[in-house]
Amino acid sequence: MELHVVDHPLAARLLTRLRDETTDRATFRLAMDELAGMLVYEACRNLSVEPVEVTTPIGRAAGVRISDPPLVVPVLRAGLGLHGAVLRLLPETETAFIGVARNEATLQPEPYMNSVPADLSGRSVLVLDPMLATGGSLAHACRILRDRGAGHLTGVCVLAAPEGLDHIRSTGLVDRVVTAAVDERLDERAFIVPGLGDAGDRLFGTA
Ligand code: PRP
Repeated sequence: MELHVVDHPLAARLLTRLRDETTDRATFRLAMDELAGMLVYEACRNLSVEPVEVTTPIGRAAGVRISDPPLVVPVLRAGLGLHGAVLRLLPETETAFIGVARNEATLQPEPYMNSVPADLSGRSVLVLDPMLATGGSLAHACRILRDRGAGHLTGVCVLAAPEGLDHIRSTGLVDRVVTAAVDERLDERAFIVPGLGDAGDRLFGTA
């Protein structure tokens, strides 16, 4: 599994805002949206393109069209915080949703939604899940996608824990993880340390 850490001053500044416990919900949402643009930019680096030609006001110019846009799968809820950037940067993409909540007692992922098409026929997929903690939620989503014939799978995260990355690596389900940082460890509740808290709650509240 390839790991790409987006190490850039502008990404680091946004991540700092996300980590800060005094950041209010609106600012948190905006910072995640802006950071998502950078993560998705990197996650899409190897997309295949086909040549097109356009006419500029001065003459003909060579350009490209994305030939095979990936399916995008936000893992609910927190994955929605990364979704807007994909829609802006890859407007031709299709979206399927996987809903999974980590049981905070057992730490096991409990699925509650799945709108993934039955046959993905080698389609590449961007899986959006800001927090890769134990990796159980991302593995659950990627297992569904693999079972349905997905091609290249990229996990797009804001933060990853070393334990979660090891787990994901051991499953062999994921081809690539793009993240803004790899943090120190998980705590006894399997929260990422130092992390940013509960991304879903900080984006959407505790309702
Ligand atoms: C959080 C987070 C990830 C998952 C990470 O979601 O957004 O999806 O936990 O933990 P894991 O790697 O140990 O599985 P949560 O289950 O709290 O749901 P939410 O997104 O609705 O807040």
